[in-house]
Order: sequence, then structure tokens, then C-alpha cells
Amino acid sequence: MEKQELGIAPDGVDPKKVPQRVLCTGAKIPAIGLGTFGSDRFTGEQVAEAVLGAAAVGYRHFDCASVYGNERLIGHSLRAILNGGVRRGDLWVTSKLWNDKHGEKDVIPSCEKSLKDLQLDYLDGYLVHWPFPNYHAPGCDVASRSPDAKPYIHENYMKTWRQMEKLVDRGLVRHIGTSNMTVPKLRRVLRDARIKPAVNEMELHPHFQQPALFRFVVDNGIQPIGFCPIGSPTRPDRDKTETDTVDLQDPVIVRIAKRLNVHPAVVCVKWAVQRGQIPIPFSVYRHEYLSNLRCTVSDPLTDAEMKEIEGIDRNCRLIKGQVFLWKDGQGWEDLWDPGGEITPP
Ligand SMILES: NC(=O)c1ccc[n+]([C@@H]2O[C@H](COP(=O)([O-])OP(=O)(O)OC[C@H]3O[C@@H](n4cnc5c(N)ncnc54)[C@H](OP(=O)(O)O)[C@@H]3O)[C@@H](O)[C@H]2O)c1
Repeated sequence: MEKQELGIAPDGVDPKKVPQRVLCTGAKIPAIGLGTFGSDRFTGEQVAEAVLGAAAVGYRHFDCASVYGNERLIGHSLRAILNGGVRRGDLWVTSKLWNDKHGEKDVIPSCEKSLKDLQLDYLDGYLVHWPFPNYHAPGCDVASRSPDAKPYIHENYMKTWRQMEKLVDRGLVRHIGTSNMTVPKLRRVLRDARIKPAVNEMELHPHFQQPALFRFVVDNGIQPIGFCPIGSPTRPDRDKTETDTVDLQDPVIVRIAKRLNVHPAVVCVKWAVQRGQIPIPFSVYRHEYLSNLRCTVSDPLTDAEMKEIEGIDRNCRLIKGQVFLWKDGQGWEDLWDPGGEITPP
């Protein structure tokens, strides 16, 4: 009955039952969100339809970005969700500042554009999408290099961050955050920020658990949002390399999926929520996004299963960021500060 009053489909999940995480501000964020990057496989209309459908089964958290090129269409869905009786305070909407908009004059207008497109007065989360300020064309090949590629320059990042802080001061954004960061970069941001990042969006799936960064953000009161939680199995071929491993085929994940009688993808999502990150799995298919949500309210994985999954980490980064490399002779690893210090220019 309660579910119907909330406008939730009978087979959906009451949003009040979905686990929540508490942010450093005391605000709450649903412990699972719907990703909205359709890549080259799904149109903006399909993704916007999925947002509407996901809200109808109980999702209240949506991970958007201007570069996904679909915020205007998603805005129609958000408007319909709010008109349908969902309170704004019960929704969590993230958007992200794209790499060619790090300039001090560009940050606030970029956020305003996302707000207008999404038909919102404020964003719950606004993230700097990447710490590198380079333009590259959407969908370009990983081998393409930007002539204006620049390394991470902390002073410049903080100039961008000051504008992010202004967005909070002006009430346009409730929480600001980072994405695709490393421990040494975050250490500096935490040292110099007036308003600290509330969330850090990072690649997280069973074969890429980033234990050190995960621990660092949690210890510093930053909530980890996990992208590619299923190992992005259908990402474009241009984003795959020969050494990439496949979470969905891991014998441990497959065995647990059999026990639970679910798709291996669902085990990845369930593990993510139980570990303490906030996964944002993408799907436009109702049965998929519904099963991803439902697993957050069913019996937990056993301690032994959690331990087993901890043991299958392959340190396999899928989103390597090659297009951000700024000089010849570098490997993509250089983007991720492998020596524990920010890679020098
Ligand atoms: N901050 C960043 O830099 C960054 C980077 C990457 C992604 N993201 C965000 O993270 C989100 C998720 O990442 P992602 O889309 O790359 O990867 P993902 O969520 O790991 O994988 C999505 C794919 O998994 C399959 N799937 C989902 N649920 C399933 C289920 N229950 N059963 C079977 N298959 C299922 C779907 O494949 P089919 O479509 O074939 O069914 C779907 O396309 C993005 O949409 C975006 O919002 C952020």
C-alpha cells in the first residue's frame, strides 16, 4: 500500500528502504544511483526513458554529466518525476563539469547550463569530471591526443575549485566533489579547499577495488561513488585492451550469482553497496535496473563471500584516460600517480 502511495510500481522498491549514506554535511545520499552515460549504444531518449522508469521502481539518485549530451532530455524526466509527487528533497542529482570548462569564467555558466537543462534549481552534487583540463571530442579514439593537453597543475585545479565553492555559496549546488582523482591529488585538495569534496567518483568493481584510494576517501569523510560497477561490459571496443579482465566471468562472481539465482552483474552491485561505496550502474532495461536496485534490500552476501570477492581484485583499470596524456613517451599509468606523488609535468 505504502509503495502505491509513493507511486512506486508494485514490483519496485520503497525508496525509504534503500540504504542511504551520510555525507560530511549530514545530508543523505541513496547508496545506489542510476548511471546515465549512454555512450554510443543508447540515445538520449532511451536514457531519459530509463530515468523515468527507474524512478518508478524506486531509484532516487541519478548520475548525470554535461558531456553525456543528454541532460536536456533527462530534464524532462526529472520534471515529470517531480510533477508526479516526488519531493525534490528526496532526489539526488549529480552533474559534472567537463574538462574544457575548468577556466574560472566557465565553471559557473557550465553549472547553470546543466541546471537549466536538468530543469532544477540546485544540484545535489557537482563534480569536476576529470582533474585534467583538456578538450577532446566525445567518442574519440583512445589513441587520439589533444594538442592542448596539460598535466595536473594543482594551482589551476584550485582556481577551478574556488568557483565550485562559489556555486555552494550561491546555493546552486549542495555538495561539490571530485572524480578520477588519486591520493596525492586529493591530499592537496583537502589541504587547500575551503569547502571539501563531499564525494569522490572513482572506478570501482570487483576486479578494480582501489583499496588504498577507497580507504583514503572514507578515512577523510568523503563518500566514494563507484562508476563502472559491473565492469562496463558493453563499453565501446575502442575502450577495451587485451589485458582487460571481465568481472562478470569471474568464477567467484558467477558462483555467488548461481547461489542467489541472479545475473553476475547483480552480485557486483550488491557487493559494492555492502562494501560501502555508492555504485551507479547503468542500464536502460527495466529488468536490469530493477534487479540492481532490489539487491540492495535483500539478504546480504555472507562474510565469506565478501572476503572471496575482496580476493579477486585484479587491479584492472578499464577507464585508463589515455586521451589526457600530455607528452610523448608516457604510459596511461602516469595519469594515476603510480609513484605515490603527482606525476611531474
Ligand atoms: N566519473 C566518470 O569519469 C565516469 C566514468 C564512467 C562512467 N561513469 C558513470 O558510471 C555509470 C556506470 O558506468 P558504465 O555504464 O560504464 O558501466 P557499468 O554500469 O559497469 O555497466 C553497464 C552495463 O552493464 C550491463 N548491466 C547493467 N545491469 C545489469 C544487470 N542487472 N544484468 C545484466 N547486465 C547488466 C548493461 O549492459 P547491456 O546494456 O548490454 O544490458 C549496461 O550497459 C555511467 O553511466 C556514468 O553515469 C562516470
